[in-house]
Amino acid sequence: MAELNVTPWEVSGELNDESYNRLVKKFGVDLISDALLERINMIAKGKLHPFLKKKIFFAHRELNLILDDYEKGNPFYLYTGRGPSGKMHIGHLLPFTFTLWLQRTFNAHLLIQLTDDEKFLVKDTSKKEIAGFTNENVIDILSLGFDPKKTHVISDYQQAKTLYYYATDVAKHVTVSTIKAVFGMTDSDNIGKLFFPAMQIVPAFLLPAITGKKMRCLIPYAIDQDPYFRVARDVLPKLGYYKPSSIISKFLPALQGNSAKMSSSKAESAIFLDDSRETVRKKLMKYAYSGGRDTAEEQRKHGANPDIDFSFLEYSFLEEDQKKVDEIYRKYKSGDILSGEMKAIAADKISDFLEGIRERRERIKENLNDYMFDERKLNF
Ligand code: TRP
Repeated sequence: MAELNVTPWEVSGELNDESYNRLVKKFGVDLISDALLERINMIAKGKLHPFLKKKIFFAHRELNLILDDYEKGNPFYLYTGRGPSGKMHIGHLLPFTFTLWLQRTFNAHLLIQLTDDEKFLVKDTSKKEIAGFTNENVIDILSLGFDPKKTHVISDYQQAKTLYYYATDVAKHVTVSTIKAVFGMTDSDNIGKLFFPAMQIVPAFLLPAITGKKMRCLIPYAIDQDPYFRVARDVLPKLGYYKPSSIISKFLPALQGNSAKMSSSKAESAIFLDDSRETVRKKLMKYAYSGGRDTAEEQRKHGANPDIDFSFLEYSFLEEDQKKVDEIYRKYKSGDILSGEMKAIAADKISDFLEGIRERRERIKENLNDYMFDERKLNF
């Protein structure tokens, strides 16, 4: 088995329950217990996001403090982000449906950071290309339906003045040896990469810094981003802010089920937001990792394993009617539904979702400014 290596810039090795448990121990995060899940469920009035039900979001840091504040009527805010290194596929976009659910459930302000500077520093991509991806990615994300009054998009280059001002507060408290140890960087990494973590930490205290109001921050992220927020939890109390809380996800299953992240480097290894109905269907039929049996006969007899089946999982993430999901699960597992049918059901659901995105994109494009970070919007 390849050794597990999870850093913000590289994810390799086998990702299974055991390796996630090892990461949880190594990073010092807590699993989301049944009791905590039930507490969230009560607040959400029984409407848990599928990622919580399926334990895709499976770990946290001090989520209870966020819920305490919420129940006392003290506002907290959300912060998440995206590294704009290419076109987005559904594996990139789905985590934002979870953030949207959080925004709606808790009626919270949200900062979305686009780390264009990071992608310039770590990849071999031109600034011009990155600017194009930043612009397109923001439109994709916002088309999920975020609330313009409570959503604040930050591009590191565009908001450099504000971010840099606060990043120096962070940088002053972080040594080179900490960054090397936490991120696995070496002397041959460029100095921009060494400084960059300060930029990603800023949004975790930006709202209290600007408004002067003490409030907590909850950060949803995939576990490879944990190093930033470990450092943030060390530094923020020194600056007079709360430690940020986290809600942490596993990586989403990949189309081809190679247990690695869905990759955007190969067109056929992911479903892109601009894939047509026909393309989505073809990709699923040809590549989707299946939990089915080798022959139709065997499957009718023994059923499939929906829990590892890309098509079933995507369907379950996108179908809001839980009864329908349970029904398909049962039928697929018992052999009533064959893999080809499962793929067709999922292809339809995915294409409906993508069509919604593509329709809403146009309206977002016209109103993009409403969503951009602007200190004057923070009058609360
Ligand atoms: N560095 C992240 C990436 O490459 C983007 C990011 C910035 C982010 N801030 C974040 C992700 C906060 C999650 C939470 O994708």
